[in-house]
Amino acid sequence: MSVKQFIEKDKDRLLEELMALLRIPSVSADSAYKKDMLSAAEFLKIKLLEAGVDSVEICPTAGHPIVYAEKIMDPSWPTVLVYGHYDVQPPDPIELWESGPFEPIIKTTDRHPEGAIFARGACDDKGQMYMHVKAFEYMMREQKMYCNIKFMLEGEEEVGSPNLGPFMRENQERLACDVILISDTSMLGNESPSMTSGLRGLSYVEVEVTGPNRDLHSGTYGGAVANPINILAKMIASLQDEEGRITVEGFYDDVLEVSAEEREAMAKAPFDLADYKAKLGIDDVSGEAGFSTMERASIRPTLDVNGIWGGYIGEGAKTVLPSKAYAKISMRLVPNQSSEQITALFKKHFEALAPASVKVVVTPHHGGEPVLTPTDGIEFQAAAKAYEQTFGKRPIPLRAGGSIPIVALFEEILGAKTVMMGFGLDTDAIHSPNEHFGVFNYFKGIETLPYFYEHFRAMKEA
Ligand code: BES
Ligand code: MN
Ligand code: MN
Repeated sequence: MSVKQFIEKDKDRLLEELMALLRIPSVSADSAYKKDMLSAAEFLKIKLLEAGVDSVEICPTAGHPIVYAEKIMDPSWPTVLVYGHYDVQPPDPIELWESGPFEPIIKTTDRHPEGAIFARGACDDKGQMYMHVKAFEYMMREQKMYCNIKFMLEGEEEVGSPNLGPFMRENQERLACDVILISDTSMLGNESPSMTSGLRGLSYVEVEVTGPNRDLHSGTYGGAVANPINILAKMIASLQDEEGRITVEGFYDDVLEVSAEEREAMAKAPFDLADYKAKLGIDDVSGEAGFSTMERASIRPTLDVNGIWGGYIGEGAKTVLPSKAYAKISMRLVPNQSSEQITALFKKHFEALAPASVKVVVTPHHGGEPVLTPTDGIEFQAAAKAYEQTFGKRPIPLRAGGSIPIVALFEEILGAKTVMMGFGLDTDAIHSPNEHFGVFNYFKGIETLPYFYEHFRAMKEA
C-alpha cells in the first residue's frame, strides 16, 4: 500500500487520534496541568508501542517527563532522531477562542479550504509531532523502514527546555544518531512549500523600575516624584531609533550579514504583502529600514515588549502614582549573536538609561542561540527531495523567525545536524487564540516523511 492509500483508508482514524491527543490540556507553564502532562506522555507511549517501537520510556526529569522510544532495525543503518514537543502554550485569552482550546473541531478557513483542526497545540507541536508517529506506523506496517528511528518527545519546549540539555548529556550514547529530524516550523503555503534553514535565538529579560517606596497620591506627589510607569515607557521607547534599529550599544556587532544571493532568493519567494496586512488587520507594516517584511521577520534581530504592567488597572479611576512598573522584553537573535552576551549588553544599557529618580533591576529569563542548518548537506537534500515528490515542487529554503532553543545544543551534544521539515503555515495562529493545523498539512506531513527516510538512507550510502 502506498502512503497515500494508507492515509486515504485511515484518514478518520488518523484525525481522531490527533484530536484525542489535543483534548489533553498539556500546558507546561502552569503547574495546575501537571497530571495532564503525564497523560499526554502516556498517550504517546501507547501510540508509539502500537506503531511498533522496540521500547518506550517515560523519562522523569526535574520538570515534565521526556518520552523516549526507539526502533533499531539494523545497527549498520543510519539512525534518525525525531524531536518534537507535546507541551503547549497556555490557551489564554480564552474568551477569544471560538471553540474550546481543548475541544478540537474541524472548520474550513481561507487558507485551509479542506479544513483545519482548531485546538491549542494543533500545529505547535502536537499535530506536527504526531505526523511522525503515524508516518512511522505506516513504514512499520508496510515494512518500508530505511533507517533506525529514535523518538525524543519533550514536555518543556514552551518553557525553554530547561531539562532537555542535561538529559541529552546523560544519555549521549543512547541518543547517538546521524541526523535530528524536527517538524515544528512552518512553510510558505500549501502550494509553495518551503523548508526552514535557520532559527532565531532569544534573549528574554524582565525589568522592574521602582520609584518611591510606596504608592503615592498622584495629586499630592504627582509632578514632583518620578512615576516609574512614565519612566519605563520612555526608556522602552528609546530602545529603538527612528529607523527601527535597536539602540543597545554593541547589539549588532556580531550580526552575520546575509549574502546578496540569499536576499535575492528571499525576495523571489512568493509573498503577498497586501494579503499579509489584511490577514493581520493592519494598514501598514513596521520595522527596520532597508529590509523587507520577510527579512525583518527572519534574518534581522528584534526587540519587543511582551508584557507591561504596574499601577492601577482595575475598574474606574484610582488616582495613584505607583511605586513600581514592570515589563517583559524579548530580543530575537540571529547568527552569530550570543544570547548571554546580548542579555549582558541589554542589562548594561538599560541600567545606564535609568535616571537617578528610579532604580532598575533587570532579571534574565531563559534564552537560546540562533542556528543555521546547512542546505547543501544530505539531510537537507533528502528532505527537499521528499517535498518535491509529494508537492511536485522544490521547497524554498527560508529562515524562520521563531526559536527552538534546544536545536543549538543538538550539534554540540550529539554531534549531528538538524533538518527541519515543518508543515504548518504562519497564519495557523500558534500561541494565539484559535490555533489550527490544516488537515491537508497533517496528511501531507505523514505522506512526505517516509520519503525522507528513504532518500536519507540512499544518500548516506551513496
Ligand atoms: N515551534 C515554535 C518555534 C517556531 C515557530 C519556529 C514558528 C519557527 C516558526 C516553538 O514551539 C516556540 O514557540 N518557541 C518559542 C521559544 C521558547 C523559548 C518559548 C518561541 O519562539 O517563542
Ligand atoms: Mn513548537
Ligand atoms: Mn511554541
